[in-house]
Amino acid sequence: MAGAGQPVSLAAGSRGGCQRLPAATGEGTGQRGATASRGGTNDGLRSLPLSGHVGFDTLPDQLVNKSIKQGFCFNILCIGETGSGKSTLINSLFNISFDDLVSTHFHPNVRLKAQSYELHESNVRLKLTVVSTVGFGDQINKEDSYQPIVDYIDAQFEAYLQEELKIKRSIFNYHDTRIHVCLYIISPTGHSLKTLDLLTMKSLDRKVNIIPLIGKADSISKTELQQFKRKLIAELVSNGIQIYQFPTDDEAVSQINTIMNGHLPFAVVGSTEVVKIGNKVVKARQYPWGIVQVENENHCDFVKLREMLICTNMEDLVEQTHTRHYELYRSCRLQEMGFRDTDPENKPVSLQEAYEAKRRKFYLELQRREEEMRQKFVQRVKEKEAVLKEAEQRIQAKFEHLMLVHQEEKLKLEKKRKALEEEIALFNMKKANAELLQTQPMVSTPVSLKRDKDRKNSSFT
Ligand code: GTP
Ligand code: MG
Repeated sequence: MAGAGQPVSLAAGSRGGCQRLPAATGEGTGQRGATASRGGTNDGLRSLPLSGHVGFDTLPDQLVNKSIKQGFCFNILCIGETGSGKSTLINSLFNISFDDLVSTHFHPNVRLKAQSYELHESNVRLKLTVVSTVGFGDQINKEDSYQPIVDYIDAQFEAYLQEELKIKRSIFNYHDTRIHVCLYIISPTGHSLKTLDLLTMKSLDRKVNIIPLIGKADSISKTELQQFKRKLIAELVSNGIQIYQFPTDDEAVSQINTIMNGHLPFAVVGSTEVVKIGNKVVKARQYPWGIVQVENENHCDFVKLREMLICTNMEDLVEQTHTRHYELYRSCRLQEMGFRDTDPENKPVSLQEAYEAKRRKFYLELQRREEEMRQKFVQRVKEKEAVLKEAEQRIQAKFEHLMLVHQEEKLKLEKKRKALEEEIALFNMKKANAELLQTQPMVSTPVSLKRDKDRKNSSFT
């Protein structure tokens, strides 16, 4: 696994809202690597002893005082299936009841619920933000489950980056919401990681410090637990998932951190119930067959987790978030925006030059698009014109055809009209004759007499 057993030195940088104690410098490397200042070497400068007390040996105290005054901030992301014990664990870790409501299984997609608190211990103020998944693992589509988490983490980085890029920055007072640690609760199946666990951790391991935990560890036997842990680690390694390694470069904590790295993933039990054992009141879970004590190292790794997370490595988690995960996000985003440290010939490029180059590129791109759009427009006008011309020709042909038909019809009608007029004239003439005949008295003419005589003769024969 990456980072395991490596020599570790912490690159540190200033960051808003979160104070840190003095550490080595080396902002932006994003790597755990040796730094000169920590070992006492001083980059070839002459080392001079002072002949009397000057007072800069109080610098660490000044920093501590300033940090205490400003307060600290720590943001935890707790990922686990619905009812996996996230709220109980966080309550147990900070010895407080955060009044977290129980979620249902019926959410269409995963949501993240963030709650911030201000905690006080002695004279130290801690602004704690707990972000928990709601409905994780309840969806059929696995992508729906982890994508909202990835987006949330990126959104916090983006907010910080935007603050950094402002002309008038307020990094010092900025409420840093970047996630410093992800407690990933694995169900105590005793078998292996679920596909969803693998997919989620794989998509988050370059964005956040992941500490895997086996939740509800009281439901798995001691021997099964050891096998399960080995299996989980083997699976994480074979899938190339990088989990957070407690730093081993600082002599003061290197031994304990090395041992604790070997205990990962921690098997934890959470409870807000208290039970009286002897004359001590302890956090525990009571069963018909016995009592599981949350803070008993023979029962589970809860104390190990609390020690490592809060007492020993909280500052390192904050620092790793800034120097490694945020740095990676920042460099990718700036590259996306077109900024480069060096040109193709590997010569350094200033921000001004990068900006000018980007501006030129943008302008050329704009011109190219404008030309493209103009050509498209001309082409479309031509096409439209051709279509209209064709339609016009069609209409003209139709018109001419109709005119022809009309002329023929007109001629036919004209002929008919003439014939009709002649018929009417004939009819009128006949009618006039008939009327004339009716109005004249019946006078027998030689012709009519002869006609009468003929009629009679024919009736006798
Ligand atoms: P949601 O926020 O609703 O998704 O649930 P959650 O993951 O916050 O789980 P929560 O802490 O509400 O615990 C759910 C149930 O599991 C409660 O009944 C707890 O008492 C129980 N529980 C929590 N931690 C443990 C544990 O370590 N062991 C066992 N056996 N039960 C636990
Ligand atoms: Mg909860």
